[in-house]
Amino acid sequence: MILSGRHSQSLAAEVARELDEPLAPVEFDRFPDGEVMAQIGAVEGDRAVVVASTPTGDAHLELLQLQDAAREAGFEEVVTVLPYMGYARQDRAFEDGEPVSARAVARAISTGADRVVTVDPHEGAVCDFFEPSATAVTAADRLAEPLPDDLTDPLFLSPDAGAIELAETVRSAAGEGEVDYFEKTRRSGSEVEITPSDADVEGRDVVVVDDIIATGSTMSEAVGVLDERGADGVYVTCVHPLLASNAVTKLSRAGVDAIYGTDTIERPVSEVSAAPAIARAVEN
Ligand code: R5P
Repeated sequence: MILSGRHSQSLAAEVARELDEPLAPVEFDRFPDGEVMAQIGAVEGDRAVVVASTPTGDAHLELLQLQDAAREAGFEEVVTVLPYMGYARQDRAFEDGEPVSARAVARAISTGADRVVTVDPHEGAVCDFFEPSATAVTAADRLAEPLPDDLTDPLFLSPDAGAIELAETVRSAAGEGEVDYFEKTRRSGSEVEITPSDADVEGRDVVVVDDIIATGSTMSEAVGVLDERGADGVYVTCVHPLLASNAVTKLSRAGVDAIYGTDTIERPVSEVSAAPAIARAVEN
């Protein structure tokens, strides 16, 4: 049976279709003091697959509640799918006294999971923080699907060295094009500086590929640089379209032609689904 987290309702329904398993009835409530409550109704079966992205603190708690309720309901196996794992980018202590937040949340999630599946985490090594086996799958190969099919001399670009593999994956799925990357220096949580590559972008269509668009600072800097250097179309695509705060406005002001993402975070730009990749991992 598939149990959906609050932020993954469409994706969980897709996973249920892919696996041909029923969706469990789930209710979400909030107490007057602000505490959340995720509750499941009548369920049956041996295996519960909890599909819950965790873009907020409340979403983390709701996930823990769903895992606990599933165990209480008698499921023998609880598979936890984190399409988008919040806090995954805090995978080390950057300054003295900081926690390794990704490890802390992974440990909490591990207590209720027999198996974990996640999608394109910022670093694959985050899987090592889980105590049961954790698998990272990719949905990046689907990001080529919504792109215009008449791109001119396309360049697939990652805004930093860390996302080159994703850019290569999208380029391979698109079938043609060059791959390059920018260098990025982060000045603060919402300020980045981009150092362009030598690639000639004038008159070309450029697809900028990243794992996540959060504040949109990285992508809007990249789009601005490409625009200045005479790129024709500039498209941005990512696995996790978090698009926090004014990210869409930032990107639009920078001159982006279109924004695409998957449904690991359900947004209007979630053009493709991670469900097939998740379903395959759950079945293996
Ligand atoms: C960082 O290395 C990631 O790959 C993304 O580039 C970054 O997290 C995006 O964040 P933002 O949209 O806030 O710049």
